[in-house]
Amino acid sequence: MREGKLGFVICVLFFLMFESTFGRFVVEKNNLRVTSPQNLKDTYECAIGNFGVPQYGGTLAGAVVFPEVNQKACKSFDDDVSFKFKSGAGLPVFLLVDRGDCYFTLKAWNAQKAGAAAILVADDRPEPLITMDTPEEETARNDYLQNISIPSALISQSLGEAIKRELSKPEMVKVNLDWREALPHPDDRVEYEFWTNSNDECGSKCESQRDFVKEFKGVAQILEKKGYTQFTPHYITWYCPEAFILSKQCKSQCINHGRYCAPDPEEDFSLGYDGKDVVAQNLLQACFFKVANESGKPWLWWDYVTDFSIRCPMKEKMYNKECADEVIKSLGVDLKKINECVGDTEADEENSVLKAEQEAQIGKGKRGDVTMLPTLIINNRQFRGKLDKGTVLKAICSGFEETTEPVICLRDGIETNECMENNGGCWMDKSSNITACRDTFRGRVCQCPIVQGVKFFGDGYKHCEASGALRCGLNNGGCWKDTQQGRTYSACIDDHTKGCKCPHGFRGDGHKKCEDIDECEEKTVCQCPDCRCKNTWGSYDCHCGSNLLYMREHDTCISKDAKSGIGWGFVWVIILGITVAGAIGYAFYKYRIRTYMDSEIRAIMAQYMPLDNQAEVAVHGSHGNV
Ligand SMILES: *[C@@H]1O[C@H](CO)[C@@H](O)[C@H](O)[C@H]1NC(C)=O
Ligand SMILES: *[C@@H]1O[C@H](CO)[C@@H](O)[C@H](O)[C@H]1NC(C)=O
Ligand SMILES: *[C@@H]1O[C@H](CO)[C@@H](O)[C@H](O)[C@H]1NC(C)=O
Repeated sequence: MREGKLGFVICVLFFLMFESTFGRFVVEKNNLRVTSPQNLKDTYECAIGNFGVPQYGGTLAGAVVFPEVNQKACKSFDDDVSFKFKSGAGLPVFLLVDRGDCYFTLKAWNAQKAGAAAILVADDRPEPLITMDTPEEETARNDYLQNISIPSALISQSLGEAIKRELSKPEMVKVNLDWREALPHPDDRVEYEFWTNSNDECGSKCESQRDFVKEFKGVAQILEKKGYTQFTPHYITWYCPEAFILSKQCKSQCINHGRYCAPDPEEDFSLGYDGKDVVAQNLLQACFFKVANESGKPWLWWDYVTDFSIRCPMKEKMYNKECADEVIKSLGVDLKKINECVGDTEADEENSVLKAEQEAQIGKGKRGDVTMLPTLIINNRQFRGKLDKGTVLKAICSGFEETTEPVICLRDGIETNECMENNGGCWMDKSSNITACRDTFRGRVCQCPIVQGVKFFGDGYKHCEASGALRCGLNNGGCWKDTQQGRTYSACIDDHTKGCKCPHGFRGDGHKKCEDIDECEEKTVCQCPDCRCKNTWGSYDCHCGSNLLYMREHDTCISKDAKSGIGWGFVWVIILGITVAGAIGYAFYKYRIRTYMDSEIRAIMAQYMPLDNQAEVAVHGSHGNV
């Protein structure tokens, strides 16, 4: 036991040596914008804490509150009646607290329980910003760690003082925490690294790491398969100082002659697995990735690590090469190539994979050294915050240039759920639930949707309207439609235009309402003297007097036998006219014949006999005596 502890001390020593050799830690910063009062208006730097849930890619606006007592937030605010959030105009509360006396995580937990949306910790000394971290020992007492869900940020002492001065005036201090530039997003692919460990007996830290891999696996594989990301797993190792290479400690913790070491899983050399077993498994996992990557399937790493942790746990004494080989075979990856990559771990020689891993630990550019496990690096910046699926996916998504992010970023558990409440203030059609609100990890957007191939146009807030040929098939294009007495009328016209128009016989806006027009009442049709008019829904009926038929197109009545009233009437007039003219002509002709005959006979007879009235012959043709 004593020996075990001593070994642990030595191993910690190695670790410290390693750290001091490279020792460059980069604090991830983001922007805190003070939007009022005027004299504080500016953008300040703050440091993202290593716990809680930063809103990568988004922003959070609120009003700052500084408690009157319990200013370090080391106690719960529950039983403190003097403390109330004077939240300005319903804005989210940014609780400002002082650094010191207790863990950062406890402050954040107390702030969260009191209803704060974020916590700002004011540094208690003038110094460059540091990264607030979780406590080293995780005991049962701080099991709240996993439940911290608000973002946290450390601000400088001077900014803290300035805000407090304004609040004491009292002045409302409004701030905006901005994570949009927390990660660079140079292109349409995100590179990320996960520094992990195959050790499964290190308590809650190992468990949360394992849970994360299990939970994130599906998303990671989709992103990788579609080429949106390039993922690389990494393993931290350190080396044994020359003088200790032959010591028992180095022999049990290292492989390849003290070149690559890992801490003892139980921190006790006399029990269970040794550090060298962990390094060997780490190496196997790194080689698995290398071989899988070469065969074009890097995402198999996620399957391997998950399967291995389930099938080969230390607890069941299955954490060994045989069990690992089974898993590798079941995934169909070339075991021979992996064995070649692992090489002889007993030999006094370098292993190219682990050598590369040690080199990669050293910080480059904006990234610091990797000294903590687990560490996630996205686009060469260190991820800060809780390691969970939603937060990590948000961070990865914010590493894409806006509009190039994959669809996975725009759905499933990472959106802000702003559409749940009041539909995010966007347009919505209540009857069909078609909405313009779309939750994204950047917050909600109001954008007219495309539903079943029908595109909606509009501002997305007040107005969206279906357009195109198929629009009437979807919710009738948002137009009025009704069926009565077996008849259906629609205000949607199935062409490429938009808009609604009440059909003939109706009037209204066409969207919500079309009303039947009472044609009879309005005396627009069926106005012949004997006509009887009856309104129907969408139309009317008209009946003419006896033996007549109503012609709807001409709104006139005609005889039942005839085809056209106008034509036959005309023909009758002509026939009548001809008959009358004929009769008159005949009568005149008859009269002329008679008078002619009269005068001719008289003339003949006058030649053969003397007439008593000679004079009358002279007036031949006169009508007088006839
Ligand atoms: C943390 O959350 C879990 C699950 O939601 C819950 O069971 C547990 O009691 C919470 N812990 C604390 C300290 O609130
Ligand atoms: C994985 O494969 C890709 C493409 O073949 C390559 O660019 C990348 O460097 C490889 N990663 C590692 C860690 O070998
Ligand atoms: C719209 O959503 C509400 C509430 O979720 C639901 O009750 C209703 O049936 C939905 N309507 C349609 C047409 O889907």
